[in-house]
Formats: sequence, structure tokens, C-alpha cells
Amino acid sequence: MRAAIELHDHDINALVVGKCKKRDAHTIMAKGGINAALGNMDPKDSWRLHAADTIRDGGYINDPIAVKILCKNAPSAVQELAKWGARFHREKNGKITQRFFGAASYRRACFVGDHTGREILNALVNQTLKRKIKFKSEVYIFSLLKSQAKINGAMGLDIKTGKIIIFHTKIVILATGGHSRMFKRSSSRFWENNGDGINLAYKAGAAFMDMEMFQFHPTGMLYPPEAEGLLVTEAVRGEGGILLNIKRQRFMKKYDPKRLELSARDIVARAVYSEIKSGKGTKRGGVWLDITHKPKKYILKRLPKMYKQFKKYANIDISRQKMEVAPTAHYSMGGVFINHQTGQTKIPNLCAIGEVTAGVHGGNRLGGNSLAEITVFGKLTGKNVVKQVKNTNLHPINEKLVHREIKNLNTMLKSKGKNPIEIKKQIQATMWQYAGVVRNKAGLKKALKELKRIKKVTLNTGTSLKMNEKLIAALDIQNMFPTCEMIIKSALLRKESRAAHYRSDYRKTSDSWKKNIICIPHKKTFRFITKKISKIPKEIEILIKRPIQSVQHLLE
Ligand code: FUM
Repeated sequence: MRAAIELHDHDINALVVGKCKKRDAHTIMAKGGINAALGNMDPKDSWRLHAADTIRDGGYINDPIAVKILCKNAPSAVQELAKWGARFHREKNGKITQRFFGAASYRRACFVGDHTGREILNALVNQTLKRKIKFKSEVYIFSLLKSQAKINGAMGLDIKTGKIIIFHTKIVILATGGHSRMFKRSSSRFWENNGDGINLAYKAGAAFMDMEMFQFHPTGMLYPPEAEGLLVTEAVRGEGGILLNIKRQRFMKKYDPKRLELSARDIVARAVYSEIKSGKGTKRGGVWLDITHKPKKYILKRLPKMYKQFKKYANIDISRQKMEVAPTAHYSMGGVFINHQTGQTKIPNLCAIGEVTAGVHGGNRLGGNSLAEITVFGKLTGKNVVKQVKNTNLHPINEKLVHREIKNLNTMLKSKGKNPIEIKKQIQATMWQYAGVVRNKAGLKKALKELKRIKKVTLNTGTSLKMNEKLIAALDIQNMFPTCEMIIKSALLRKESRAAHYRSDYRKTSDSWKKNIICIPHKKTFRFITKKISKIPKEIEILIKRPIQSVQHLLE
């Protein structure tokens, strides 16, 4: 939507297509904050420090230019959102309040209670409506159209009516989110983040980067089953929440004595995982997150959604009772390889923004950086498309490709076999078990073998194109295959542990692996090459080297 606003404001027609309703896009799942070095609470903060934190805890494989763009532009992105009506929490002096988030040297996350994503989405929707930008909601895009090696549109299924829609365009921008639903326990809703964008780009022939880098958030809900995986925002820890094992030990003292619960996400997630694996977890397989030392009034003001979430699902009053939490699949750092200065992929007329792309976050995204990313790069990519569109012709539709896609769909509708919803669960269970928080060669190989077996299973989608959950699951599965294969194969290739990628058979970080893994579709499989990291600008590098400071005194 941010890109569409940019296009509209430069007299270019834009259409926003989404799988969900416009006020229900996945952005609403982002809770705790958006990072911008405004320095409102801690004047020593700067965009350079923001960049240094992002690269250090990203495992040094971020694209430094992308990080610089992100951190330099995040403050104006937040101010713009505020101007557009996002009601950020403010101090008495009127300045936007900022809270701690993991791995941030200073309080940097601007927030609206613990529903920051919803507020930002609403501000953007309101701006698009004001400009009368068109929306097409509840459409499942299953293919991009390509003619003379250039993208010129997309094909989608209107989920409600069952109609196939052809979008004929000069340029397509993928803003499809990530692939956290490859895993059984995920902070995304069941129908979202199934790797749609990855498969669309894959079928179009794009390249990918760092697909092994997948983030597990340390704190997801554990029960009841319908709430399993739901995000328990990092803001709980940012507001002073502490993690305890069943022996009531504050175990983060052992894993990161300086930053404790506000360490980088990968470190906290592995700490929680290790405590549980070593028998210090709860019976359900979790640890405790405790914020009962804060007044109820404060909790209701700063964490209202968390309060309601635990009350609704688990009948827990978090101002009086501890929360039971465990890691949950949360964010895809790997994705489509793009040029961050333009948003352009390797395929002409195909751009991409946000979680579907790779590079900004390296091997581990800092909490609060994704909302910053989508707004900063949404605007930047929009600006580039404005220039590009003027020199782009609308190529005729490739009828052959359209017929092939329709034939595929018809074949799916005719086939008999297993329930796709169950098969999707099998893939998720496999990925959770073998490609999760901790991996190794034997497990990753098993995952590949299991995927190969599942690929041969025929599916029974039912025959209707309309409101057909089984057909949607079957389309999801098609998206999941290349996504999972790239995650596993890249994870096998990276013979070290770095950031979110942890291998029990290669526990150390190796200097020779300080590089990106590029994955290129090649004859129905993939070719892998490695890429050197560009030079980190001096002004940022100096700050990366400064010792990590303890944040505890600032939390008192
Ligand atoms: O924990 C959270 O609120 C998540 C935020 C993020 O992933 O940026």
C-alpha cells in the first residue's frame, strides 16, 4: 500500500491485490513496535547505532546498503505514519514514546499498545481510500504472467466467487509476506505466509538468497491447541517481563548476562529451546514469562492485546499469573534476491518488498525492523517504479501460459487422493522436526526425503473453484515445495552456525561462511552460489565493534 500511494501521487494507476480483506492483511499480526532512531527517550541513539545493531545481530551477512537505507529513513517513515493518523503512544511532552526491543542499544521501538501493525495498516488503508486507489481483496494469486521474458501481470482465483482473474499490468510488485507456515508452530494464521511470493517468483525464474535463515520467535503461546504458536510480543520483555524455567531460574543470565531477556531473538529462542530440551521446561514443553511485578494498570495500557489474548484463550490474568511460552516460527529473513535501491528482482518488471525479500535482516531480524522495512522500502520501490513504468510497454498476454495454468488447475480439480489439509500438516510437522530451531545433516536429509515422498501424493481438492478450503490448501502445498526445498538445501550447504541458522553438527560460526547463499532455479532443481558481503560503511563499522552494553539499568 505504501508503494501504491507513491505511484498514485505521481499519477500512475495502481491496484492493490490481497488474499485477505484490506484491513485484515498479515501486517495486523505485528504487535510490539516499529524501530526508528528518533532518540526521544535516549538522545544518544542514532540511525548509525540502529544500523550497527541490525548488522551485528543479523550475523554480519546483511546487505549493508539496505541496512543504511532502512535505518536512515525509518524516522521519517514513522513521522509520516503519525501524520497519516497512526496514534503512536506519546510522552507528556508530545514526543513519541519508545520502548526496548531485543538487541537494540537504546529504546527505539515506537508503538501503539501492542497492536502497532494494525494501527499502521489502518493508517495506510485510510490513505489509499482517500486517494481512491483500487483494491481487489480475497484473491489468491497463483501465477505471474510473463511475456518475452518480462513480467506483465498475474493470474488469481477470486476465493469467494470462484472466478479466475487475469491482471494485465506493466509492473508487478510482490509484497506477499514470508513463509513461516512451512512450520507446524507458527505465529502466522493458518492461511497466511505459505510461501506464495516465493513460489510466484520461483516460477518466474527469480533468484533467492539466504533461504536457510529463518527466525523462531522465543515466545509463542503453547495452549490451548487453537492458540498454539500465537505471538507473545517481545514488548512483554521490553516492558520488563522475565523468563524463568521450572526451577524458577532466570536462565537468560546464563546465555547473555548483559542483555538478558533483551538479547537477540535467535539467542533467546535457542535459550528457551535448550532449557526445554534439558528437562527444565514445563510439562507442556514451555518456560514461564513473568510480568506480574508490573502494575495491572500499566499492563493494560502497554500490553492490552496480550492481556486479552491470555484471558480469552487460556483464562490467564497476566498481571497475576505467569505466561507459558515456547518458540514459534515467526519470520523469513531469506527470500527473493533484489536490488534494495530499486526493489527490482532479476526478472524485468518484477519488484518485491518486505518479508518476501532477502538481505535487510541478514541472518536474524531485530524485532521492530519489519514494520520499518515495509514502509521505508514501500516508498522507495514505489519511487523507482514511477520512473520505470514510463519506459515500460504493456506486453500482450502470453495465451499459452494462461492455458497452461488453467489446465493445471483443472487437473488438480479432477484428481482423487488424500485431503490436502492433512498433507499440508505433514509438511509442517516435517519442517518443524528437522529444519527448526536446531538442525543437522541427518535431520535435513530426512526432511528432503519426506518431502520427495509427499510430492508424489495425489490430492483430492474437490471440484469447486468457489470457497474451497481443500483447493486453497493444495495451492498452498504447491507454494511450500520449492520454499521448503530451498530452506533445506541452503541449510545443508551452510556448514556452520550463524544467527538463526543453528546446526548441532557445526556449532561454530566460521569466518569462511561470512557470505550469502544465492539459490537459482535450474532445470526443476536449484543451483547454489555464494556471494561476498559488500563493505560495511566505516561510520557503522566503528559502532558495531563497540562493546555490547547492559540495558538493565535503563529498565529499572
Ligand atoms: O514480538 C513482537 O512484537 C514482534 C515484533 C516483530 O517481529 O517485529
